[in-house]
Amino acid sequence: MQSTIQVHDKHFEVFIEKNVIEHRINELASQINQDYEGKRPLFLAILNGSFMFAAELMKSVTVACEITFLRVSSYQATESSGKVHQILGLLENIEGRDVIVVEDIVDTGLTMVEIKAQLLAQNPASLSITTLFQKPEALRQPIDIQYIGFEIENKFVLGYGLDYDGLGRNLGDLYVLCE
Ligand code: IMP
Repeated sequence: MQSTIQVHDKHFEVFIEKNVIEHRINELASQINQDYEGKRPLFLAILNGSFMFAAELMKSVTVACEITFLRVSSYQATESSGKVHQILGLLENIEGRDVIVVEDIVDTGLTMVEIKAQLLAQNPASLSITTLFQKPEALRQPIDIQYIGFEIENKFVLGYGLDYDGLGRNLGDLYVLCE
């Protein structure tokens, strides 16, 4: 197996192998199965980055559930607060639903804080978050995340859904930028 790859102008090396990632996702699913027994959660997977995590997670979720996909726009300027992300493509009514947001990575946390606030405004019965990766050192706003796959160093990663300028989402292993 080739362990170092080039994507655009940068070199990356394997950081977490696919089988380790998928074992951990299976553990997250088991936890969700326990916590949501008797409920019917609605998973909201944030595109593009979470598609691979969401697909793997759903294969191990055994409670009755639904999944839908949404996008978060790049920053939109507003007059009041400066910049916000907009949620795009959420057609389902989430009022009264047990919602689980599925994200690829929480970096500064700013995106997730905004998504959470916008979803809570729609009165779900409950809202929890699962992210495959989190960079605790990069966090700029405190946020409760119920199901975290891996806490990683504050370095740029790609693969398993995550991209570098459009490329690398298809890689099964997680790669990190070479020093
Ligand atoms: P945040 O608002 O800073 O938490 O940014 C979250 C988003 O930034 C994620 O959903 C990713 O799309 C992107 N992102 C953050 N860190 C990385 C990384 O290391 N590799 C690829 N994308 C990243």
